Amino acid sequence: MYTELALALGLGAVVALVAVIFQKKSKIVLEAQDGWWGVGACPQEPEDDSIRPFKVETTSGEIEDLNLRLDQTRSFPSLEDSQFNYGFNSKYLEKVVSYWRNDFSWRKQVDKLNKYPHFKTKIEGIDIHYVHVKPKRLAEGTRAVPLMMVHGWPGSFYEFYGIIPLLTEPSSPDDITFEIICPSIPGYGFSEAPHKKGFDGLCAAHIFNKLMKRLGFDQYYVQGGDWGSLITTNMAQLEPNAVKGLHVNFAPPGKGALLMIMSLLFGRRFPKLFGFTEYDVKQLFPIMEKLVVDSIRETGYMHIQATKPDTAGRALNDSPVGLAAYILEKFSTWTDNEFKNLDDGGLERKFSLDDLLTNVMIYWTSRSIISSMRFYKENFSKGMNQLHAKLPVYVPTGVACFPNELKHSPKSWVEQKYYKLKTYTQMARGGHFAAMEEPQLLAEDVQNFVKIVEKSKKK
Ligand SMILES: *[C@@H]1O[C@H](CO)[C@@H](O)[C@H](O)[C@H]1NC(C)=O
Repeated sequence: MYTELALALGLGAVVALVAVIFQKKSKIVLEAQDGWWGVGACPQEPEDDSIRPFKVETTSGEIEDLNLRLDQTRSFPSLEDSQFNYGFNSKYLEKVVSYWRNDFSWRKQVDKLNKYPHFKTKIEGIDIHYVHVKPKRLAEGTRAVPLMMVHGWPGSFYEFYGIIPLLTEPSSPDDITFEIICPSIPGYGFSEAPHKKGFDGLCAAHIFNKLMKRLGFDQYYVQGGDWGSLITTNMAQLEPNAVKGLHVNFAPPGKGALLMIMSLLFGRRFPKLFGFTEYDVKQLFPIMEKLVVDSIRETGYMHIQATKPDTAGRALNDSPVGLAAYILEKFSTWTDNEFKNLDDGGLERKFSLDDLLTNVMIYWTSRSIISSMRFYKENFSKGMNQLHAKLPVYVPTGVACFPNELKHSPKSWVEQKYYKLKTYTQMARGGHFAAMEEPQLLAEDVQNFVKIVEKSKKK
């Protein structure tokens, strides 16, 4: 009798506790404070919020300086049979440098960059650069759906040049026509670098939400991979009423460390218990090889950038060849981990040298490699215990899971963070730089996701 009573009371207490925890959780709304990232103290007068057209430009001085540095590069032979296993292969690097020096035309690529309208506007003391593409035509009585697409490291807004026409001029009449905004993360490409410490994903998210408001959008969609996925996730957490839907092609597990550890320990034996599909098991195990060894082998850059970005970055800021090797090595391994066993890193299987070097040139001419690397330091220095990392996302979410992504995220993990997961697509092919590598596949998945969200809103 007494034990039953105690049991009932105990159960009641547990239920009440759980209810309190959940209630508390649902009440926590992530907030961001306005920052000031300009030089010196924040001025008293209100900020100039004008939007200025911007054009990418170059000079013969800039190109001559580049050529001089390319001519002065000191080559150093790779080990025999080492391919890309020791880093960027020197034989292939010579080929890239020769193409860069003799065949690549920065002027031509600048024209290509300017084929879409660029703008700059000041937010929180720094100039924010973005590309803004409106559809050329719209069906009678329809409106374009605004979508912000955010790049990561070591990418740029240029990653989206292949997908922009697919989304702004869709071929099927059933498709949604988008209006696309691609900003440069502060400190990347043509966005000014923050002058103060502490600029992380949440700060970028706050600024990008402000940018969308300034452009007159009350409601919009956001999409991102790499840092772009963290930033757009944070945007959705900060402004769940403005962000109508969130689409990511990178979803590192952000919650439930215990569940993750348990599922990694026992998931291979009891996949059903942890909601793993056969595919999940194939992608995740053996964990020693897939997670531990791979992580150690492939994340050295992250440790450098999260600790002393300004030191290694200085060399890259001086040497275009060093910069290209550092950036393009990632376009090899992150597109396909097996590419490290190829003499040319498989780079031209998925990309053209023109496109790859254009991305490098965006870093080179804007001198932004150091500030881009600092983003890792700001991200890791605050620790893993950030509020946004613990909070779920309540905005409708779509996840495109590319098979060669750095880390596989099973649906059962993704649901832990994204409570309103509308689509989770196992993509047919592609890796980390999905927008650039497989624009068609990514565009289809974005279309599918936004259609589902729009339909459910109409009801
Ligand atoms: C840093 O990035 C990781 C991976 O996206 C994320 O889980 C973590 O919350 C970030 N930390 C901060 C301070 O934004």
